[in-house]
Amino acid sequence: MDKLVRKQVLNTDKYVAGKPISEVKRELGLEEVIKLASNENPIGCSPKVKEAIKSLLDDTSLYPDSGSFELKSSIAKKFNVSNNQIFCGAGSDSLIKVLCNTFLNEGEESIMAEVTFPRYESNTKLMGAECVKIPMKNNGLDIEKMVDAITDKTKIIWFCNPNNPTGNIFTKEELMKVLDRIPSNVIIVMDEAYVEYVESNDFPNSFELLPKYSNMIILRTFSKAYGLASLRCGYGIASEDMVQYINRVVNPFDVSLYAQVGATAAINDDDFLKRVLDTNREGKEYLYKEFKNMGLTYIDTHTNFIMVDLNRDDKPIFDALLKKGIIIRPGFLLGMPNWLRITIGTMEENKKLIQAMRELIK
Ligand SMILES: Cc1ncc(COP(=O)(O)O)c(C=O)c1O
Repeated sequence: MDKLVRKQVLNTDKYVAGKPISEVKRELGLEEVIKLASNENPIGCSPKVKEAIKSLLDDTSLYPDSGSFELKSSIAKKFNVSNNQIFCGAGSDSLIKVLCNTFLNEGEESIMAEVTFPRYESNTKLMGAECVKIPMKNNGLDIEKMVDAITDKTKIIWFCNPNNPTGNIFTKEELMKVLDRIPSNVIIVMDEAYVEYVESNDFPNSFELLPKYSNMIILRTFSKAYGLASLRCGYGIASEDMVQYINRVVNPFDVSLYAQVGATAAINDDDFLKRVLDTNREGKEYLYKEFKNMGLTYIDTHTNFIMVDLNRDDKPIFDALLKKGIIIRPGFLLGMPNWLRITIGTMEENKKLIQAMRELIK
């Protein structure tokens, strides 16, 4: 079989996703399982999304609008860009692949942090391009070293901000120091999957930078703060010129009718988003306090997840938490052994987690 597949596929590992609740229930015979593993939204999605989706059932037999007109119009209005600057896909995950398909030739390089969202690496490899991984600085992206690593072969530089799995950010000041050193033939991807959670005034506003940096692409998703992970809807924003090429690669019907209508309702419901952010802030403060009480250090987060340092092998703790019906993301799968990545849940879920961790970590 090896001979049938492209050599790039042989070099690529399958993505290991956070375990679904149904699988843990089935395998461990548990009735109650909570998932704090995939940075999903613990309070779900806006009631307006649910209402909007319910009304679509009769249209299930029709293809969706391949141009996602209504959704793009809502995004365009919110960020003061034109519809032609927007591209949409089945999650920003699929758009990472689209960007690799659009820009990476065999033998070219893409630069990423050592510990970051793993899909940059797998999609780079699938194109037969090379990954250049830059070690972390204080557990965050070392964007200076990332830019230093640019060569004639570099095609994409992946700035995940806030970074997954570390949850930290680089600031506008740090970005401005390096931006002008990035040649215009290198694509700058600002993956901002968690941007809605960011409260720091130092966070760069990528939209302000777009007019000057026509090689910049912003990626965002409805899967996190908007609570639409199962709908699969992400979007990107760049110059009109760039987007007309990207749209040649995007699959025409990847964004389902449900996703388009749901995401449109979500982006227009500011009250729900505020509730999400308030819940997250409250959960974060609680978990910080409890981790401190347990003598555990953590990385200050700008997202809906926290990376906590166990100072011991994370695999046995991950397994033991699973047996207690709590799914988290173990650091060994993320390039940070001895750490756990914990999605901030509802207060009830957070309390269950802390109780279980206290029992396991004496
Ligand atoms: C940094 C980052 N980018 C992109 C994604 C992809 O999200 P989705 O495909 O659900 O939009 C994720 C999901 O975890 C992520 O953490």
